[in-house]
Amino acid sequence: MFKKDVYIERRNKLKSRLKGGLVLFLGNQEAAFNYPDNTYHFRQDSSFLYFFGLDLPNLAGLIDLDSGKEYLFGNDFTIDDIIWMGPQPKIKELATDIGVENTEPLDKLKNYLLNAKNQDRNIHVLPFYRGDSIIQFSNLLEIHHSEVEDYVSSELIKTVVDLRSIKDQYEVEELIKAAAIGYKMHTTAMKMAKPGIYEQEIAGTVEGIALAHGSMLSFPIILSQNGETLHNHYHGNMLQEGRLMLTDTGAETNMHYASDNTRTVPVGGKFSQKQKDIYNIVLASLDHSITLIKPGVPYRDIHLASAKVIAEGLTKLGIMKGNPEDAVREGAHAMFMPHGLGHMMGLDVHDMEGLGEDNVGYDNEIKRATQFGLKGLRLGRRLQEGFVLTTEPGIYFIPDLVKKWKAENINADFINFDKILNEYADFGGIRLEDDILVTEKGCQMIGKRIPITPDEVEETMKG
Ligand code: GLY
Ligand code: MN
Repeated sequence: MFKKDVYIERRNKLKSRLKGGLVLFLGNQEAAFNYPDNTYHFRQDSSFLYFFGLDLPNLAGLIDLDSGKEYLFGNDFTIDDIIWMGPQPKIKELATDIGVENTEPLDKLKNYLLNAKNQDRNIHVLPFYRGDSIIQFSNLLEIHHSEVEDYVSSELIKTVVDLRSIKDQYEVEELIKAAAIGYKMHTTAMKMAKPGIYEQEIAGTVEGIALAHGSMLSFPIILSQNGETLHNHYHGNMLQEGRLMLTDTGAETNMHYASDNTRTVPVGGKFSQKQKDIYNIVLASLDHSITLIKPGVPYRDIHLASAKVIAEGLTKLGIMKGNPEDAVREGAHAMFMPHGLGHMMGLDVHDMEGLGEDNVGYDNEIKRATQFGLKGLRLGRRLQEGFVLTTEPGIYFIPDLVKKWKAENINADFINFDKILNEYADFGGIRLEDDILVTEKGCQMIGKRIPITPDEVEETMKG
């Protein structure tokens, strides 16, 4: 946990921006996976962590905007719990750790909320993303679950997004710790990528590195020699000489700040010329995007600039044709890169995505596009100092997509379909991803860059 002043200041900022009523942050509960006592690894809600810092189940934080009072709701553990769990702090002690004065047992929360409801006071909540939280809130308010949505407060969402988007120095330190774990995860995966090994052996080892640091994965690992499937969580293939292995993984520290990097390496440790040609386009696109990152620039424009590098590179190789600028305007490059360039990162790997992607990544000035490819961009708005984001261009040869576009004559002026189907159908995909902090005048990498040039990758794979 951070020092208590960090949480006091965050809540004060929240209070100063909201008009009136109550703000409720429901912490997460344990979630069972096959019977009630056998639970998934507990993951606290990120906004609860941001304002109330406590990484334990069955808590709620309440802020009365009119009186300024703050409350922590939760139950002290009984001796029956302590026999199984060991000594546990009291709710009063937990509240002191985060600078909250008032505590109440969890069953008192209902009175506070019903009183406010009966007096027609605003009750602000963030969107819920777990069924049990929806049921808990509907029980607390004595409403049908279909009415829960009515309490989701756009004023609260906007304020939380504004605050959580700008990372302070303590948060950046945590993100750097997550990056250091991610570095070990990725370099270990590189060293293990030999023909004959199963993907799951590498995936399991990589996940173990996160666990061995007292942390966990920031999202389920993507590791595959079929990297053209963007989120490939199947790890049952044996690596084959001549294939590429794409690894997209990151850790979250025990404070829950994330890392998220992607590297793509040649199985066996040596790129073929054909692989290197595509790889270097993705790397040039990534490096170009990083040169453009600074406050004030719309991330949508950086996405498009990085797409142009991809279109230019593929045109030089004869895979695309025509004018690359026109190709990007028409969205032709998106057959090769159907996803967005990146997303915010912080306490969630896709930071605050539960509050609504458009609420985080777009605003009144920059709206989400509808064009295939660009519509997948999670962050489009102008960057600000203190944002932390990923940049992750890729080139993928997805046979079903190529065949569909060929059959439907989509962007046929810009794409040499037959060359792709004859020469690249079993190429796979390449993605490269770095995590970046937007600084006053530009940007900096979060942590030490994981080996990325073909020479660095081949050198690391020898180890
Ligand atoms: N690294 C996984 C993703 O950004 O979707
Ligand atoms: Mn990512």
